[in-house]
Amino acid sequence: MNKIPILICLLIPIHCIGENISWYPKFHLAPPKGWMNDPNGLSFFDGYYHAFYQHYPDKPEWGLMHWGHARSINMLDWEHLPIALSPSIPEDIDGIFSGSAVVNDGNLTLMYTGVSGNSTHQAQCIAYGSDGINFKKVGVVLKKDGNDLNFRDPKLWKQDDSWFVVVGSKTYNNRGEVLLYSSPDLYSWDYQGVLAQADKNLGYMWECPDFFTLNGKQILIINPQGISAKGYDYLNLYQTGYFVGAWEPGKEYQIEKGFREIDHGHDFYASQTFLAPDGRRILIAWLDMWESEFPEQSEAWAGMFTLPRELTLSECGDLQIRPIREVQDKRRAIPINHSPLFVDNKFIYITLKDAPGHEVYLEFDKHHKNATVYGAKMGDADHGFNVYVDVRAGRLFLERSYVNFNISKSSRNLKIDLKQPISLDIFVDSSSVEVFVNNGFGVLSSRIYPTDKDRELVVYSDSKLLKLNTYKIWRICE
Ligand code: FRU
Repeated sequence: MNKIPILICLLIPIHCIGENISWYPKFHLAPPKGWMNDPNGLSFFDGYYHAFYQHYPDKPEWGLMHWGHARSINMLDWEHLPIALSPSIPEDIDGIFSGSAVVNDGNLTLMYTGVSGNSTHQAQCIAYGSDGINFKKVGVVLKKDGNDLNFRDPKLWKQDDSWFVVVGSKTYNNRGEVLLYSSPDLYSWDYQGVLAQADKNLGYMWECPDFFTLNGKQILIINPQGISAKGYDYLNLYQTGYFVGAWEPGKEYQIEKGFREIDHGHDFYASQTFLAPDGRRILIAWLDMWESEFPEQSEAWAGMFTLPRELTLSECGDLQIRPIREVQDKRRAIPINHSPLFVDNKFIYITLKDAPGHEVYLEFDKHHKNATVYGAKMGDADHGFNVYVDVRAGRLFLERSYVNFNISKSSRNLKIDLKQPISLDIFVDSSSVEVFVNNGFGVLSSRIYPTDKDRELVVYSDSKLLKLNTYKIWRICE
């Protein structure tokens, strides 16, 4: 029996319209001013989550790299702290590149890539501090023999009383690789060999490697440069993806499942994970891509982080990615007004007048009947985003277009199973949208640049027979 379509209209006071609207995020981390790229040194120390980031404080563009710093008790409300690391010694005078943090002997210890010699050398340096705010530099502890122009982004961990680090690099014939080292004390390091290396299709340089255990498997995350777009995949300039395999100290890494992208949106790169004190594996990435325009530069800042996400590994060896549960504490339910709305013969299910700052949860019934396209969109075709199921293609697309800001129309996508109900958990912040699909199955993250005219979000279908099983809307409080 066909159900009457659920037609709901939600009208929210248009409090922001007419105000000077900023693209600065309400519930994501961004620099107070200046430039941000990769997350660095994600850690938990002395009661706080710490996030460092690639930072150029003087201008909202990439420049001489520092480590910016913020801390938080819930990974959502961040307190900005003084810059943690600035170029100051010969080994890092041309930049403090990406790296990681561990807790060792009561100190928060940072390992970063020092860039020197007019940016022709990269080596791994250490700094440490006991108050989690001020750091004392030790200098270089790990160098690469021979060409060290591309030897960066150390990711540390401890296992069986030894320290290990993976470092991103490339071979002499331009293939990305991850090098592995071990140490008894974080200061003297032994080369353990190549952990993994690109074949001819997997890029000329692997940045920001990460290596950790989930559900008994070893996950290697890499950020390859130089993979060509292929059909629906690898559409961004650079990718972030993972291998699943088996490894133990002293043995080779046996890859069991090949490279797959972690996020399917326009803007996601240089992710880093860390272990929360309760054992959760948390991932944060730069919610941007090097080819992007950064319209927020007009507001004297650029770059932001994704929402922190909890990673798990399914029995089939697929990463599952969900927003951290702390997000639920920031939800403020919005009452929904059940009155029908028809607009130009299109079937509009929900209207949210001012979407940035909200989470919208939708579950579409698996009986999509004669619907061929359905989803949620904000703004219009030239100045907005549209996340929609294309039934014929069997894919979920995230299309965006901000022609006023030199961002031309393009879409990213994720293959989905249309025999199941499809749930979309959509987080819209001032200049980002993150769409979590089917409770961990996939995620698409993109930057958006709404002006005061295109902040309305509608949930729509091209068939009146489509049914929404669940719909919820929360304001995410600041
Ligand atoms: C990745 C990256 C890293 C490097 C940093 C420099 O986005 O290129 O490899 O450490 O950015 O800012």
